[in-house]
Amino acid sequence: MSSFKFTSSLINILFFVLLLHTVFGANPIYQICSTSDNFTTRNDDPYGTNLKKLMGYLSYSTPPSGFSFSSMGNNKYRPYGLALCRGDVSDIDCGSCVIEAASQVRQYCLYNKSAITWYDNCLVKYSNKNFSGQIDFQNVVYAWSFQNASDPTTFNPKARKLLRALARRATESQKMYAAGISKLGESLSIYGLVQCTRDLSGNDCNSCLQDAIKLQPECCDGKQGGRVMTGSCYFRYETYPFVKA
Ligand SMILES: *[C@@H]1O[C@H](CO)[C@@H](O)[C@H](O)[C@H]1NC(C)=O
Ligand SMILES: *[C@@H]1O[C@H](CO)[C@@H](O)[C@H](O)[C@H]1NC(C)=O
Ligand SMILES: *[C@@H]1O[C@H](CO)[C@@H](O)[C@H](O)[C@H]1NC(C)=O
Ligand SMILES: *[C@@H]1O[C@H](CO)[C@@H](O)[C@H](O)[C@H]1NC(C)=O
Repeated sequence: MSSFKFTSSLINILFFVLLLHTVFGANPIYQICSTSDNFTTRNDDPYGTNLKKLMGYLSYSTPPSGFSFSSMGNNKYRPYGLALCRGDVSDIDCGSCVIEAASQVRQYCLYNKSAITWYDNCLVKYSNKNFSGQIDFQNVVYAWSFQNASDPTTFNPKARKLLRALARRATESQKMYAAGISKLGESLSIYGLVQCTRDLSGNDCNSCLQDAIKLQPECCDGKQGGRVMTGSCYFRYETYPFVKA
């Protein structure tokens, strides 16, 4: 995997290539330690203990519905966190993804008060700020497949059209999730999925997804698969059936 970091004053966008879709699943796609605020292991600083409890809580509160937002502790030692599982994963896969993601990201971002990690099956985020209900477009990651689309001039607009249609469906659905297929011909289909974290309103989910879809040409132009993942919503599309119907 090659990775390049691009920073603008507003957003951090990380670009990388997904060489093989089979490589992922149990490993993070990407993780970001998103603040320089840190905590300590001193007795008078319970942030780390609260964070550990919060992550433990998320790992069992998330699977039944696929989403959980919570916080633990008091005032300045209070972490806020969320976990979101992909709309089609089982409770068991959801739970194991959140456990793995929460433990991995806390090790990777040791002592940072805020962090986010994206896996194939889940996303986990925490912060010392109450971010509930706010669109997070600060943390943005692009990923695309290595394979070129055979006919990019028709493929790209079709992919965006599918994603926009899915975004409308997700916004109206309780799970803020939608997956679907667009047939391009006899043997070629595009499989897509979109999802938002459920602390967002329907309108904010829609606007997060629309903004993410606008990044598709920049992210994944001409590629057979692509993803734009933010702290509040993401999309993915491929030419193979990666999502359970
Ligand atoms: C995360 O915390 C470490 C240790 O305090 C610090 O060196 C690093 O700069 C922090 N990361 C970010 C993104 O600020
Ligand atoms: C946390 O940051 C403070 C200053 O912002 C620094 O003095 C301290 O060493 C950092 N602690 C860790 C564990 O990195
Ligand atoms: C976090 O913010 C949300 C939305 O503003 C609010 O409803 C909630 O009560 C806040 N939670 C805490 C623990 O402050
Ligand atoms: C995809 O197209 C680019 C530019 O046309 C080319 O450099 C690259 O080698 C192609 N990749 C594959 C896997 O065919």
